Amino acid sequence: MTMMLTDLPMAIQRSDFAGDFVWGVSTSSYQIEGAAAVDGRVPSIWDTFAATPGKVRDGSTGAVACDHYHRWEEDLDLAQSMGLNAYRFSIAWPRIFNGVDAEPNAKGLAFYSRLVDGMLARGLQPWCTLYHWDLPQYIQDQGGWNNRATVDLYLRYADVMTRHLGDRVKHWITHNEPWCTAMHGNWDGMHAPGNKSLPLALQVCHNVLLSHGRAVPLIRANVPDAKVGIALSLHPVMPASDSATDRAAVSRHDALRNRWFLDVLYGRGYPAQALALVGADAPVVEPGDLEAIAVPCDFLGVNYYFPEVVRDAPDEYPLRAQIVFPPDRQRTDFGWEVAPDGMVTLLERVARDYPTGDLYVTENGSSYDDHLEDGLVRDTARRDYLIRHLAAVRDAIAGGGRIKGYFAWSLLDNFEWAEGYLRRFGLTYIDYETQRRIVKQSGEWYSAFLRGA
Ligand code: FCB
Repeated sequence: MTMMLTDLPMAIQRSDFAGDFVWGVSTSSYQIEGAAAVDGRVPSIWDTFAATPGKVRDGSTGAVACDHYHRWEEDLDLAQSMGLNAYRFSIAWPRIFNGVDAEPNAKGLAFYSRLVDGMLARGLQPWCTLYHWDLPQYIQDQGGWNNRATVDLYLRYADVMTRHLGDRVKHWITHNEPWCTAMHGNWDGMHAPGNKSLPLALQVCHNVLLSHGRAVPLIRANVPDAKVGIALSLHPVMPASDSATDRAAVSRHDALRNRWFLDVLYGRGYPAQALALVGADAPVVEPGDLEAIAVPCDFLGVNYYFPEVVRDAPDEYPLRAQIVFPPDRQRTDFGWEVAPDGMVTLLERVARDYPTGDLYVTENGSSYDDHLEDGLVRDTARRDYLIRHLAAVRDAIAGGGRIKGYFAWSLLDNFEWAEGYLRRFGLTYIDYETQRRIVKQSGEWYSAFLRGA
């Protein structure tokens, strides 16, 4: 299905949003930095995983990626020239600590200090994610997030980073998408470290959420004026048909996919429906854990890409539900459904059902097979995706969504995890041979929009 330009909400403009609305782009350390062995960085679980044959589709790694570690000034210039007022980045834990008992690495600290100063100099509000999946390998060697001791290592890391940057960074995100850390990393094994065990994944998930809950007071103590939150990957869940069985499958899927995170973060514990389904695979929860996880935050980050459509599937453990891909949907070249309405539904639901404080769309974007032709990347499909999703944010605000900002994924094409460099999500094209950056048509559009055109 092709969108006609006439179907687009072309009337959208920046002035439809509050004057203090946060306009950003998101990136993450392993996906863009490269410089894997520079200035004392040690391997992360993604270096190990990507080096394992068969794990990343094009056999690539993040060893060089966008070489952002050396080209960050040019990249921040790009963000500034787009007219953005915020920039979301993550810190590579393996640049900061090279061993369990090690002292912080001065060169790693200095890099992020320069980066943050560079943002501030360009009028970009820094939004720092502490953990975007690049766990140091030496921690994985001791059990990784399955080991409760990792929570303490994370707290030490969070303490060092917030002391180091807290005079300049006021927006802190403890974790990016705990679902992916836990489930892709340890249940379906599509991501590092590549385990395939539901009980392991659920324990990892619990420990990650616990580390979030315990980090929040520590961040506040170090940065009294900090705004602290977490970024979740959430999906509206739709039934494959109107049948009662498919609708019941939606509820089961939603219990683990969304409520498993939202309920526990907002003080309701893990959903009884999901606990009943996973039975003995449920995580070990120690006294006080649930109270710690439910610590009040200033905001919730929502990463929205697509809805999930599910059908009743009695043989599927544990949810008795299965994701299906209806053929009649508009999709990106990655196969992800293009559904801006789903974002409206999702944001309104989260705002209605949970006391999240402010909401931010901390990621949203699309992957298409871009081509550089005559020096231009004419990515009209990505531009249209962006326009329609910004209109969805506007509609969700009108529907009570209290959304205060939007971060496009991503500033640059980058290392897309198990897909390597096969998927391009950037508003800027990377010619990986030369590391040349070329702003795509979508990036030009975002920039014109932000300038009030
Ligand atoms: C999200 C991740 C981000 C990026 C996008 C496409 O799940 O947080 O790193 O890979 O998907």
